[in-house]
Amino acid sequence: MPTPRILSGIKPTGKPHLGNFFGMMQPAIAWQERGEAFYFIADYHALTTVHDPAALREYTRGVALDFLACGLDPARAVLWRQSDVPEVTELTWLLSCVTPMPMLENCHAYKDHVAREKVPSHGLFAYPVLMAADILLFDSNIVPVGRDQKQHVEVTRDIASAFNRLYKSDLFVIPESSILPTVATIPGLDGQKMSKSYGNTIELFDEEKTMRKKIMSIITDSTPVEGPKDPATSSILGLYRLVAEESAILQMEEEFRIGGVGYGDFKKRLFGTLWEYFAPQRARRAELERDPGHIDRVLADGAHRARAVAEKTMARVRAAVGLK
Ligand code: ADP
Ligand code: TRP
Repeated sequence: MPTPRILSGIKPTGKPHLGNFFGMMQPAIAWQERGEAFYFIADYHALTTVHDPAALREYTRGVALDFLACGLDPARAVLWRQSDVPEVTELTWLLSCVTPMPMLENCHAYKDHVAREKVPSHGLFAYPVLMAADILLFDSNIVPVGRDQKQHVEVTRDIASAFNRLYKSDLFVIPESSILPTVATIPGLDGQKMSKSYGNTIELFDEEKTMRKKIMSIITDSTPVEGPKDPATSSILGLYRLVAEESAILQMEEEFRIGGVGYGDFKKRLFGTLWEYFAPQRARRAELERDPGHIDRVLADGAHRARAVAEKTMARVRAAVGLK
């Protein structure tokens, strides 16, 4: 099999949280060993919600810093800022012209917006087309994402197939999503999917006090200390399973079932393990922060490498549709 091309993006809409890390960043980092990895910070996408220029710049750098601290290796993976490769917006238009409106009306972000009686922007409506352009511009085979993004990869496949059929060509590679079942949906402080839009997140690099406070605020039922508790539905265990050793997980599950330990104690144990789990990443992050020029160099080099691929694809696509 030829070397797979792996691509994924993350929006700079805040600081990366545990859902982003386990759902997307960690799988993406693992993939960089197994193929040509292309990862970007989706600042065009973030503009659907972030309208503060200083915040957008800060989040963008912050996401790059956190991704590098977590092990993204710029020698193996290409890391760039989406807006540094503006070809993607041109491709978005070409794809838009073959994308049926009903397909986009069916997408969950748009539907949720309408259900909440908010007026969606055209950008929010067209969001999946920009995402399709991200993926198709780089001939991507595999797209590691959390479960919430699966529908967008399906849309990408449909748009690519429609385009290939219309122009009687194999112009675009048909991509597949890669979703690890164990981390498909990471629970947040309130038990719902962890998400910036729900305000239930635990950021990767919070201060110790802040992270402890957040863990201690995880919502639980009111089972007393001595009562047996349900290990299947608990967010405490859901998060503990991601960071603890197998034997420690089995022990906590057993203590849930038997009763006799309160939620407060479980939370303290979760905090301790989580804090320790991210210690190497914190050290690396502190080191990276000492050389702010490093991030700029990584992003500039990434933009250069990504753009070389994008230009080739666009030349091919322009020719196929009759623009050249
Ligand atoms: P948010 O929902 O907080 O705005 P993003 O949409 O920026 O997060 O997500 C970036 C990446 O992280 C995507 O691949 C997404 O699937 C993944 N991700 C986000 N939250 C979770 C979660 N709770 N569980 C698993 N993956 C997640
Ligand atoms: N839409 C993704 C999210 O909200 C981010 C993203 C943009 C992306 N373009 C992408 C992910 C291309 C994978 C591939 O998380």
